[in-house]
Amino acid sequence: MCGIFGYTGAQNAVREVIAGLRALEYRGSDSAGVARISPEGALIVQKCAGRLDALEQALAAGGDVSSRCALGHTRWATHGAPTDANAHPHGTPRVQIVHNGIIENSAALRRRCLADGYVFASETDTEAAAFVIDRYYRILGDPILALRHAAAELRGSYAFGVLFADFPDRLFALRHESPLLIGRRREGNCVASDLAALGEGERRYHPLEQGEIACVTPDDVLFYPPDDGAPYHKDVLVAAETAAPIDKGGYPHHMRKEIADEPQALRDTLFPRIRDGLPDFSADGLDLDRLLASPRVWFVACGTACHAARLGASSFARLAGIDARAEVASEFRSACPMPDARDTVIAVSQSGETADTLAALRAARESGARTVAVVNTKGSAIARAADCAVCTEAGVEVAVPGTKTFVAQVALLRLLACALGRRAGRIGDDEAARLCRELSELPDRLTRLFDREEEIVALSRRFHRTCSGFTFFIGRGEDSIIAAESALKLKEIAYVPSESYPAGELKHGSIALIERGTPVVAVCSVPSQREKMLSSLREVASRGASVLTFAACDPDGALRAASEAVFCAADDPAPLTDPLLVAAALQLFAYHVARQKECEIDRPRNLAKSVTVE
Ligand code: F6R
Repeated sequence: MCGIFGYTGAQNAVREVIAGLRALEYRGSDSAGVARISPEGALIVQKCAGRLDALEQALAAGGDVSSRCALGHTRWATHGAPTDANAHPHGTPRVQIVHNGIIENSAALRRRCLADGYVFASETDTEAAAFVIDRYYRILGDPILALRHAAAELRGSYAFGVLFADFPDRLFALRHESPLLIGRRREGNCVASDLAALGEGERRYHPLEQGEIACVTPDDVLFYPPDDGAPYHKDVLVAAETAAPIDKGGYPHHMRKEIADEPQALRDTLFPRIRDGLPDFSADGLDLDRLLASPRVWFVACGTACHAARLGASSFARLAGIDARAEVASEFRSACPMPDARDTVIAVSQSGETADTLAALRAARESGARTVAVVNTKGSAIARAADCAVCTEAGVEVAVPGTKTFVAQVALLRLLACALGRRAGRIGDDEAARLCRELSELPDRLTRLFDREEEIVALSRRFHRTCSGFTFFIGRGEDSIIAAESALKLKEIAYVPSESYPAGELKHGSIALIERGTPVVAVCSVPSQREKMLSSLREVASRGASVLTFAACDPDGALRAASEAVFCAADDPAPLTDPLLVAAALQLFAYHVARQKECEIDRPRNLAKSVTVE
């Protein structure tokens, strides 16, 4: 992953770089570093393990850091531990680079650089790339030629920001697979991993294309093609959207604030797509007939977005009769059979930058399939790479754990399934209108659920007090997907080892792990699964499990009788949206368990918000 930010212009470049990196810390914060050109023209590097604050302190302690050109990096470690030495930038007194991506042939390059006399100070793949660039620059004496020749030798994915000591006011940038853009400012220009780093208000930028090289000066940006073609200028794009202020809205954590944002995220995502009480995707440019004509619809996504995709596939199948399946994006290219030209592939992603999802989408395009992106970030790489992009309107999500975007993705896909079912003639207007009403009522139902937060806090305290270790999450049908998502939340933010199982599958092996006190969280929002879920609860309870059930409702008290504690999330049953209500209750549950454990909720260890390496 990693975040890159460089600045050249009239402002204090190091200060600009720190501000840019601050907005990119969600991409990784294992270490940070900055290279700058001193007023005397020397390349000076400062870097250290830990978050950006540590680098800022080191810079403050180091005295004057004034410079008009600087390049910085915030790291998510891939090659080598998060140490000072492995922090970026890497290079030589001539050239310093920062890198996002993975150089797959770094071992071979390293051997060759060693033979050429280079001495490595880190275990990173980046340092080998820096030396390859340095070597070509030494031989050819031209930065563009050096970058072109080096690029021809690199395998894998990379976005590089590069500083050459001989060109003290210029930043160079190139990329392959990993994203990078050039930001245009009134005073100076910058190189950034994504739009978030360009600040609030109107943002002017050029996306950097695959293989393209940019030479950025304070008042101009020149692009060079990967071959030896002539340089050119490009039109400036404008991202008009003002970045929402990234505050916690009075909550102790971004995650809690973002859960509270869910009702509004749903209104903003759903309401513009419901006209006269019926689903309407005409403004999205989606070809519903083409979707319906697809023999198969594949969803591809990662992590939480993949759970949303699985729920989306389930809605497409149930409401529209579509042969829909969801695949973990990193496994998609091993799928057999691959989609063909008549199929549709839908990539689901909050960031729109996830490398595995992007790679799956590209593979789908190569196989001729039509592609659709469901993203929360307009103009993101995945949105640009797809034939059509449909955006959730959840607003910026800062906390690493996905919450409001998950809810918005699932609701959007449910509404789309309803539109498809109606178009296919499987759902009449009355039924479609009823489903739309149910989706429209979800925001208020969520608000009423959040009013009962204290009940969930009490359950989380009890869980924290009694949890003896490994926690099972079980559910059936769509509830098994909610169980998977809830287990993921608990492990990623509260570090509680948790795994989900389809409840009926337990007895085929995993139930052997259940003993007195084993925590089992049961998810039960789907009425048709209730009887069988009750059997599963009795099976684990009779073996000593401590069962905590999150249900939509429990009209006859049977779930209560089979569990140690029950939380009912719904007032009135609403089958299309109850799973989301229960999922939101479980997000709050994980959040409060993590609070009891005093975990770093918004930025859990080892994780980054946007995963831009495969
Ligand atoms: C976990 C979480 C991740 C992301 C995954 C995909 O809470 O948020 O599992 O869902 O990394 O990210 P996006 O949605 O940006 O493609």
